[in-house]
Amino acid sequence: MHLLAAFALFLDLGSALLVAFIPTLLWVLTSPSRVFRPRNISQFFMAKTWETFGDAIDERDRVDKDKLIAPNAYGVVLDLGAGNGHAIPYLDTKRVTKYVAVEPNALMHPKLRQTADKAGFTEANGSLLILGCGGEDINTILQALGGTHSIDTIVSVMALCSVPDPQKTARVLAQEALKPGGLFLFYEHVLSPRKDVQWWQRLWTPLWVRAFDGCCLDRPTHIWIDEIGGWSDKAVWGNADETEENLFLHRSGKFVKAA
Ligand SMILES: C[S@@+](CC[C@H](N)C(=O)[O-])C[C@H]1O[C@@H](n2cnc3c(N)ncnc32)[C@H](O)[C@@H]1O
Ligand SMILES: *[C@@H]1O[C@H](CO)[C@@H](O)[C@H](O)[C@H]1NC(C)=O
Ligand SMILES: *[C@@H]1O[C@H](CO)[C@@H](O)[C@H](O)[C@H]1NC(C)=O
Repeated sequence: MHLLAAFALFLDLGSALLVAFIPTLLWVLTSPSRVFRPRNISQFFMAKTWETFGDAIDERDRVDKDKLIAPNAYGVVLDLGAGNGHAIPYLDTKRVTKYVAVEPNALMHPKLRQTADKAGFTEANGSLLILGCGGEDINTILQALGGTHSIDTIVSVMALCSVPDPQKTARVLAQEALKPGGLFLFYEHVLSPRKDVQWWQRLWTPLWVRAFDGCCLDRPTHIWIDEIGGWSDKAVWGNADETEENLFLHRSGKFVKAA
């Protein structure tokens, strides 16, 4: 692997530090007890970073998301790690009846709500539900939805990289929240199939996790979702413009739960 590719992520880290470090520092200084809640600090840093770079990242991934989400998502959609709602513009509002966002970072909720409202998903008429829990908190999710098997489509865009115990979280969401016949759609960056790239992904992950609120570079998410089993149809594909040396190699997936 080229050293340039192995260190490329420091460009991203540098850009994030440039926009988010000072605001985060000020945020901690205004209430110093925040020093003792590193997860909150990480959430603040992540919210600032995504506020600045989220649109550009969405633009970069537009072709992939257009192919994955727009023609497929239908019915009640659960957006795992919804962030600022960057998946919403890809939803066909004629086919999606309700948008359920699972987003534990409350600092992202105002933007998320604004984007949803603009698309016609509102809390006022029950077509929008924002849950402030993590995807692993299945009891809260099922309770808010009024029971099991009520989701038609799960959407996960760069979210399973950050969820604790991602294998279990994906499995429980697929088995308990998703309806039979429902869709699991994902666009995630994953562990490379190349051993040398894997070595660098594993080296940088402990650093990346701390900067970006739990985001891991070393998860074979596309394989884990396949391993859940119970799918009647499945497709996984890559991104034609990405080289194999990319530390953030993406995989899209469309899995159909057996009816
Ligand atoms: C890289 S951002 C992606 C946001 C959005 N999906 C997008 O495409 O713009 C990762 C998101 O996962 C969220 N996240 C972190 N931990 C999570 C958890 N346990 N359950 C669900 N989402 C989580 C973060 O708060 C963040 O909004
Ligand atoms: C800090 O984290 C706690 C628990 O994780 C959460 O309830 C709270 O809303 C967070 N506070 C801020 C300001 O983000
Ligand atoms: C909810 O209200 C919004 C805004 O008035 C509207 O665009 C949307 O179609 C409504 N959705 C449902 C399911 O009634």
